[in-house]
Amino acid sequence: MFLLRGLKSSIIIAPWRSAVRTLKVAVVGAGGGIGQPLSLLIRRCPGVDELALHDLSETKGIAADLSHVSQRGKVVGFTGEEGLEPALTAADVVVVAAGMPRLPGMQRDDLMAANGRVAIKVATAVSKASPGALLAFITNPINMIVPTAAAVLKAHGNYDPRRLFGVTTLDVVRSKKFIGDSMNISPDEVTIPVIGGHAGITILPLISQCQPVFKGGSKETQSLTHRIQEAGTEVVNAKAGKGSATLSMAFAGAHFVGSLLRGLGGQEGVVECAFVASELTNAPFLVSPLELGRDGIQRYLPLPQMSDSEKGALEKLLPILRQNAEEGIQFAKNYLKEKSASPVPAALP
Ligand code: LMR
Repeated sequence: MFLLRGLKSSIIIAPWRSAVRTLKVAVVGAGGGIGQPLSLLIRRCPGVDELALHDLSETKGIAADLSHVSQRGKVVGFTGEEGLEPALTAADVVVVAAGMPRLPGMQRDDLMAANGRVAIKVATAVSKASPGALLAFITNPINMIVPTAAAVLKAHGNYDPRRLFGVTTLDVVRSKKFIGDSMNISPDEVTIPVIGGHAGITILPLISQCQPVFKGGSKETQSLTHRIQEAGTEVVNAKAGKGSATLSMAFAGAHFVGSLLRGLGGQEGVVECAFVASELTNAPFLVSPLELGRDGIQRYLPLPQMSDSEKGALEKLLPILRQNAEEGIQFAKNYLKEKSASPVPAALP
């Protein structure tokens, strides 16, 4: 390092600076109810040199607005189908919040017809424009969208299971909040793994593993578990036709992106639960705790200890996840066949 003296303060020129990795994050669906606050919160993530915002409608104004936030890096807006690949070009992290939200009375699975296509388009564009990117889907139904994206990436010869995630951080965020409130402590003090998937009973908060230890009885544990599993529906019903969770989802999504970035930056011990391809059970995709690193998933941590009732709940949810994965992969197969966009892979994940 060189110190240039004679100026009012010393300027440090680091010769390794040019070798420092610059990081680009792309948000797909950046104009939406999740995308806008998510993009704002990602501006607070250290180390982001470029934030690319993509949506089907105008993003230039949002990009101009966010570019005035006093954080390092530039913000660039991209619009329309033709803007997708340019937005994703050379991205390190692509986070997808595009797609339709649930309305009261709908299950997340009901969104597959509309949102499955989003997953296919983004996975195709990532394969072309940013093949090494970490790809994180917020778009529902996560339990099917991630297998769909895996199949498409595989068809394009670009599938690395360590780089594909379904973002389920909101289930952890909610668990921390509800348990923290019930124990009368700050949610920040609560740690809890939430495994399984991201819909109804597939969301399995392991309250037996909560730290500090949850002292409530089985009735309280059951009712907290149920509230966490149905929290998305609680918001959908409260919004009464105006969509689903956006702000808490953005909070959770930005937390997860921040963890991906810290892993990419070489920080050790970054652990998050996320929905990924998995060999831990007989479901091909599962939420489990993962250590993140320079290549995405650095290490698959074993499933945490469980109480007997949690073990029973896991057994009940696995067939649902297997079925969801099959449907997601079939969705991709049908689409690829229909479009003949690329050869249908001989063996899908
Ligand atoms: C959530 O958990 O809030 C999201 O998955 C949105 C939804 O439809 O519930």
